[in-house]
Amino acid sequence: MLEIGKLPTHVAVIMDGNGRWAKSKNRPRLFGHNAGMQAMKQIVITASNLGIKYLTVYAFSTENWKRSTEEVSGIFKLIIKYVDSELKELIKNNVRINILGDYNMLPGDSVRAIDELLDKTRDNDGLVFNIALNYGGRDEIVKAINEIIIDRKALADEGISVDVTEDEVSNHLYTGVLHKNIPDPDLIIRTSGEERLSNFLIWQAAYSEMMFTDTLWPDYSPEEFTAMIEKFSHRKRRFGGREKEDK
Ligand code: IPE
Ligand code: IPE
Ligand code: MG
Repeated sequence: MLEIGKLPTHVAVIMDGNGRWAKSKNRPRLFGHNAGMQAMKQIVITASNLGIKYLTVYAFSTENWKRSTEEVSGIFKLIIKYVDSELKELIKNNVRINILGDYNMLPGDSVRAIDELLDKTRDNDGLVFNIALNYGGRDEIVKAINEIIIDRKALADEGISVDVTEDEVSNHLYTGVLHKNIPDPDLIIRTSGEERLSNFLIWQAAYSEMMFTDTLWPDYSPEEFTAMIEKFSHRKRRFGGREKEDK
C-alpha cells in the first residue's frame, strides 16, 4: 500500500485509443468503446482501493460530436449499459458520481440513466468519480465567464464595481466551489501515445503532473495505473517555488 501522504488526491484520465484498439482487431469502433468501458470499470475500483479521493475520466468531449452519428449514439448507449450493469457495484463501493459537462444535450434515455446514477450515489462518501461528458475546457471557461457577467450586472445595479479574480473564475468552473467542488488534478494520465490535453481541464491543469503511455485504453490495466501512482509519489512538485531542502 502506498503512503497516504504521497497519493495524488485527484487523478484525471484521458481514456484514448479505443478506435485504434478496435481497428487492430479488425472490429468496429464501438467494439473498442465497449472494451474501453470495461477498462474504466476496473480503474474505478483500483482508484477506490488505493484510497484516491477523486478520479475524473474524459468520456466524451464537446468536439467528439464531429464523429459519425452511429459512433456518437453508440457511445451514449454504452452509458445506459454502464448504469444498468454498475449501479449496484458503485453503491456497494460507496462511490459518488459527478458529471462534468452539459449532459442534458444527450438523448433522453441517456440523460435519465445519468440522473439515476447521480441520484442513487449522491450520499456516498467514498471515491468521487467524475465523468467528463460533453465536456470542453473552453466551453467550461466561457460558461464561468457568463455566470460572472450575471453576478457583475447584479453588483453594478447596486453601484458596486470589482475586478474578476482567479479564484472567482475557478469557483465558477464545473469543478469550482459553486458547482462540484473538486480540487485541481494532481496527475493527468493520457493513454494511446498522444501527448496533448485535447481541451481537457485546461484551466485546472496549470500545475498538474502529466503521464503518457502508448497503451491503448482498452488494454490499460490496474497494474499500469498503480505503477503510475507509485511513480507520481516520487515526483517533486514546486508550483513555481523552490524545494524545501533548497537553500
Ligand atoms: C477515446 O478513444 C474515446 C473517445 C474519444 C470517446 P477514441 O475513440 O478517440 O480512439 P482513437 O483515438 O480513435 O483510437
Ligand atoms: C479526447 O480524445 C477525448 C476523450 C478521450 C473523450 P480525442 O480522441 O477526441 O482527442 P484528439 O482528437 O485525438 O485530440
Ligand atoms: Mg482518440
